[in-house]
Amino acid sequence: MFFYISFLRPPATHSNPSGSITITPQVANDLRTEPFDGAQDIYYSWSPVNPARPEPYPSITIPQKLTVWRQSSAYKEIRVPLPQGLQDGQSYRLVLTAHGQGRPHIINLAAHDLGARPFPVLSMPILFSSRGRAAHAGEKQEQIERVYRLPLHAGENGFLTVREQTSFDLDKKIWDSGIGLSSWLVQLAQEPTQTAEHAGVARARDALFSSQARKVIELGAGTGIVSLTLGALRSTTSRGSDGCILTTDLESAMPLLEHNVSANKSAFSSSTTQPQPLVLDWDIEELPEEVNAVDSGFDAIVMADVTYNTASFPSLVRTLSSLIRLSAPSKTPVIILGYKERDTTERTLWDLMKTIGVNFQQVGERMGAGGQAVEVWIGCRDTLT
Ligand SMILES: C[S@@+](CC[C@H](N)C(=O)[O-])C[C@H]1O[C@@H](n2cnc3c(N)ncnc32)[C@H](O)[C@@H]1O
Repeated sequence: MFFYISFLRPPATHSNPSGSITITPQVANDLRTEPFDGAQDIYYSWSPVNPARPEPYPSITIPQKLTVWRQSSAYKEIRVPLPQGLQDGQSYRLVLTAHGQGRPHIINLAAHDLGARPFPVLSMPILFSSRGRAAHAGEKQEQIERVYRLPLHAGENGFLTVREQTSFDLDKKIWDSGIGLSSWLVQLAQEPTQTAEHAGVARARDALFSSQARKVIELGAGTGIVSLTLGALRSTTSRGSDGCILTTDLESAMPLLEHNVSANKSAFSSSTTQPQPLVLDWDIEELPEEVNAVDSGFDAIVMADVTYNTASFPSLVRTLSSLIRLSAPSKTPVIILGYKERDTTERTLWDLMKTIGVNFQQVGERMGAGGQAVEVWIGCRDTLT
């Protein structure tokens, strides 16, 4: 499992340059139900906001230790020293990290020890202004961002910025499985084909990272991290002018998903590698027109953390079955699932999938800080060996 630094009490949207910023940091699991069990140093830095000079990733001031987070003082409010040399009218993001070396504010999806330490967080911009203060007094931020790094070709790095809502909505925040599966995809794209490779892994590699045109759909995409990662990785290999990545979820997820796709536009080489947000509700029997219109079906279906509600399994399986039937029987899609167990009954999905002829096998995992790992499963219509 992974731990996340976030704001129990977020910073304000506005502050007087001679005022103060007060926050309460939080270190907890993705559901925010398990606080980090130990003492965790928290560092702060400031990231100047300069829309006229966009950067591939945010620059930050040298991290300074802010506090040691412990469950016993989890509700303590902390005053953060303001940026040095701050001028009236400037905006900065507040950055909280678990250490102070290198680029501590960036999550390296390729790191072998991904998630060994709590993930960093960036606040939204805070406008330091002595004007218009009364109108915004006490307004708290409702969104945060996290920045992810992924290696692309020729030693180059790509960066993705994913915005989340601080509310508890399932579709508006990042889940362990989304990060774990994204990290596994980074490894799959990077490592050379192995001679004795698992048949499912070989199929996934071809379905996702062939230079030929490929059609991919994600179900329950949430904030979109998996599709964004896939789009950035495919942008380095894809040559075809055909193909697509459809990133789907409920209507309520669309505003944030659309924002995250457009905010990361520079990571995608073309309209075939840029994820396309689309409403696809498993409870609606008919697939959306845009999905039915995909010529000869999909090469791959990807999903992360879609198993938390076993009551939704019949409609999820029906949706998967309809998607599979879009393809010719000789060319059915490979299904790639990021999964973290919350309850053992979730594993009945595997049995239900067998009723539509799909066999799942586990092909990888991401341990993070211990506890439940994120597992990566691959399902195919034919038997995998
Ligand atoms: C726990 S979140 C996972 C989000 C993202 N995949 C991640 O790992 O960060 C589960 C997602 O499934 C979506 N979902 C739940 N029921 C759905 C349904 N009936 N149709 C489509 N999406 C659904 C939710 O809206 C939510 O975005």
